[in-house]
Amino acid sequence: MISPDKIEQVKNASDIVEVIGGYLTLKKAGANYKANCPFHQEKTPSFVVSPEKQIYRCFGCGEGGNVFTFLQRLENFSFVDSVKFLAKRAGIEVEDARFSVNSGEKDKLISANKEALEYYREMFLKSEKAKAYAAGRLIDDATAEDFKVGYSPHEGGLAARLKEKGYTEDDMLKSWLAAKGNYGLYDVFRDRFMFPIFNIYGDVIAFGGRVFDDSNPKYINSRETSVYTKGRNLYNLNNARKHASSGEIIIVEGYMDCITVYAAGIKNTVATLGTAMTQDQAKLLKRYAERAVIMYDMDDAGRQGAIRAGDNLFAEGVDACVVSFDGVKDPDDYIKKNGVAALSERIKAAAPFMEYRIEWMKKQGDIRNPYYKEKVIKELAGLVEKSSSAVVAESAIKLITDKLQISRETASAYFRAQARAVMPDEPGHNFEDPLAMKNKGIDSAERTILLTALGYLGTEDQDVVLRHIAELRENLGLKYGDFRNTIYSEVMEKVKGYFRAGEKEILAKIEMDYVDNTEVSSMISEMLVGNHDNRPKKGHVADAIQIVSDCFFTILQDKTNEKLQEIKAQIIEAESSRDTAKQMELIKEKARLDKILDQRGGNIEQES
Ligand code: UTP
Ligand code: MN
Repeated sequence: MISPDKIEQVKNASDIVEVIGGYLTLKKAGANYKANCPFHQEKTPSFVVSPEKQIYRCFGCGEGGNVFTFLQRLENFSFVDSVKFLAKRAGIEVEDARFSVNSGEKDKLISANKEALEYYREMFLKSEKAKAYAAGRLIDDATAEDFKVGYSPHEGGLAARLKEKGYTEDDMLKSWLAAKGNYGLYDVFRDRFMFPIFNIYGDVIAFGGRVFDDSNPKYINSRETSVYTKGRNLYNLNNARKHASSGEIIIVEGYMDCITVYAAGIKNTVATLGTAMTQDQAKLLKRYAERAVIMYDMDDAGRQGAIRAGDNLFAEGVDACVVSFDGVKDPDDYIKKNGVAALSERIKAAAPFMEYRIEWMKKQGDIRNPYYKEKVIKELAGLVEKSSSAVVAESAIKLITDKLQISRETASAYFRAQARAVMPDEPGHNFEDPLAMKNKGIDSAERTILLTALGYLGTEDQDVVLRHIAELRENLGLKYGDFRNTIYSEVMEKVKGYFRAGEKEILAKIEMDYVDNTEVSSMISEMLVGNHDNRPKKGHVADAIQIVSDCFFTILQDKTNEKLQEIKAQIIEAESSRDTAKQMELIKEKARLDKILDQRGGNIEQES
């Protein structure tokens, strides 16, 4: 662990405007700075940096956070890497032992891989066999150079080269470039056509090697190391991202599919290297594209993989579609047989993912069988729930109800509150789910309290507002633990704790507490600078207190209503067991709760 003091020191030494300004062109806009967002495609700047609050936020895509979060998102750094990076920049020593050993190891592995890359390239240029293989697979010189394909000779030689360059046995074993046998170290890759794997910064982090004939295993790949996690990397993203200005990226399965499609001129292509696309890969892709074309092999594994890839992309909010073709197994073969123009046509005709998904499910079983049909609906409902867009969810639900021929009423039983709130209305009906409406109201009340408290931190009105918030809550007998949203309640507890302890920089303290929690830091920055209708205006302290008071009352009402339901059930029970004493006691309690609700004419409970 790096000590919190160190992190704070690094944060203080790293002005967010300077750091982000190193990546983007920032233009002054009032108290803030604006730029085109690096996390999504846009033409008018909606990315805002606040020097005063030392946070950033994009109003287009919702990305936001502090200086560390920015580097984590943009550079794909871990939290520790982002601290280390900024420490270096500010000339601050970070003394953590485990951490520097680890980063030393990473540098070592990357440089050993780089050495290997050079070796395999050198051997490739000397090998007639490897060059002939490349030509046979339509890899021209420029493509060979872009992908840096290589050759690992039969007799090995890399281990000796690495030794000569000063790498230890341990370095070689850790990088998986060499293994240990009875006669010492030997090269892992021998007599294989080599595919180096790069991260987005262009570092070589692993290799795949293909045999020249039909023997098995067809490919061997580097195992995972501290610089390579297969599920967090996309093959050729380092090149493809430079060709993704249309906002679209094509995803294929294999090394060769990726290279052939790229060589044919469709350069915005990446490979998952197998059929399983992870959620992390979907997240990574989303940083560079808003649309994805899934073009997997036309076999069972490929079709199954396309569904999984689509599901993960859907959850990330990426607009995906699925390509189909016949006659051949994979895009590489398709180009060879039909040419790239024909493949482009197939890409244009790709099916929108949700349509493809539903049709696929219909074919996996007998959809006329109601038991299977229900299974399908449940599975699709689980998927729709992952969407964070009400519009996308709504149109998905519409498609599902149409294609599976179920009524909206029936469907509503399977799509949870979030989705239900966006269920398309049938003409003539005004459909509002009271439960969903109520949940939304309570969430908004809890959020507004937090929003108000955070908004006044560090201002001259901070103390008076926080004191009133404490008073209002105590008077109503509420605890932050009563909040339904545990994150809101946790942050409010922190505000309360720091305020009571007389802490001067409450906001800075809280930001430090969540400095390595991107989800919460992003939420906090959103609350600080986001557009909120219910945000009290500066100086309007009385309004703010009134709003908070209403919010606490909404929460109290909810809690009281819940208790009331319980008491009613208990009264009925006491009645049937003829426990009159108990019954009286409960009726008294019910009257007390009724009175709470009536205080503001707020008894919203429906008599049954
Ligand atoms: P494929 O078997 O479809 O190979 O595996 P391919 O990419 O079409 O290769 P060619 O055209 O026969 O040369 C797809 C991907 O699955 C991984 C590789 O990443 C491969 O590109 N794979 C496959 C392995 O890692 N090991 C294997 O033995 C086979
Ligand atoms: Mn192939």
